[in-house]
Amino acid sequence: MKALVAYYSRTGTTKKVAERISTLLGGDIEEIHDTKKRSGMIGWLKACRDAGSKKLTTLETVKNDPAIYDIVVIGTPIWNRTLSTPVRTYTSQYKGSFKKVALFRTAGGTGGNPFDEMESLCGKKPVATLSLRRRGVESGYYVEKTEEFVTKIKT
Ligand SMILES: Cc1cc2nc3c(=O)[nH]c(=O)nc-3n(C[C@H](O)[C@H](O)[C@H](O)COP(=O)(O)O)c2cc1C
Repeated sequence: MKALVAYYSRTGTTKKVAERISTLLGGDIEEIHDTKKRSGMIGWLKACRDAGSKKLTTLETVKNDPAIYDIVVIGTPIWNRTLSTPVRTYTSQYKGSFKKVALFRTAGGTGGNPFDEMESLCGKKPVATLSLRRRGVESGYYVEKTEEFVTKIKT
């Protein structure tokens, strides 16, 4: 199974999970880059506003064509209780290329559930989903959880 893990990460938490999933799947990895500056307090405030209004952004050109993969695993941080703007954009932009999807998210607290919205954005029911808290990534709890997630993807 040829797999691509596509993710956005502002501060490295989702990136860590994405790298682990990609290693376990033996697939390729795509970091989604936004052309909009998201760092600092102003960046945070704008990110909150953009996510809340379900706005799209302009992404940098991707390296991997999602159409050539059997499955695309998409990872997002939670912003303002929903999916991040760059991942909303990636999902909307490439939905026609996805054969199968699996979804994961990281959050600072209880976060939110972005999966129903992501499913309707890409028109595909995910074969697996995974929700993690930032604390669970920092403590190493994610190691076991990502293994379970990848097992579900492979079955
Ligand atoms: C703009 C913004 C809004 C956020 N909103 C929420 C939220 O509503 N609920 C929550 O649990 N965490 C929220 N967070 C925390 C992130 O989801 C969490 O720290 C995530 O793991 C960050 O992933 P990253 O390091 O890959 O960017 C927010 C973070 C940012 C930057």
